[in-house]
Amino acid sequence: MDLILAALSGIVLFLPALIPNSAAVLFGGGTPVDFGRSWRGKRILGDGKTWRGLIGGVATGIAFGLFLTAIFEFAPSDFPDYGRWPGSVGVVVTLALGSLLGDMAGAFIKRRLGMERGQKAPVLDQYDFVAGALLLTALFHPSWVAATYVNGDGLVALIVLLVFVPLLHRAVNIIGYKLGKKKEPW
Ligand code: CTP
Ligand code: MG
Repeated sequence: MDLILAALSGIVLFLPALIPNSAAVLFGGGTPVDFGRSWRGKRILGDGKTWRGLIGGVATGIAFGLFLTAIFEFAPSDFPDYGRWPGSVGVVVTLALGSLLGDMAGAFIKRRLGMERGQKAPVLDQYDFVAGALLLTALFHPSWVAATYVNGDGLVALIVLLVFVPLLHRAVNIIGYKLGKKKEPW
């Protein structure tokens, strides 16, 4: 039972990092984060990373995280949470911001490797934002990351998360493609 709870919480608590990616697709468009500039003959990030996507995505992730913190705060239960206020808000912010910083780091690497915007980069596409969210959160809230994704049942939560993410990523990208928001269904 505890294992199932840990696995479930590993995904639920990661929603503020999962949502920005999908939200960025919906908000995306307009001025690119790199303002169209290149470095060594290749775009720094490319047209797939826009300010609207970045700000809209992070804001949506934080908003959902605040909704979760409110539930944890006002309806206490045994379900693992973000810890006490105001640290809980800090965790939500680093999860959402780290997610899209990781996504941009992934785009930066793809451009350096000479890959066009939207070109498939297995592993990198699915995990850049997971790594970004976990690293930024671990930097500011190491004990929360250790308790939730490393120590004891936390490791189960991490493994379940790593298995779940590519499936979710694929589903969301197919929806984005069908909505005409993404040029490729991956
Ligand atoms: N998006 C955005 N701004 C961001 C992140 C994403 O506008 N900071 C939007 C873009 O429309 C992008 C879409 O979300 O095309 C999907 O994101 P992603 O799959 O990460 O980008 P790709 O188009 O695959 O580009 P890249 O090759 O740079 O990853
Ligand atoms: Mg990406």
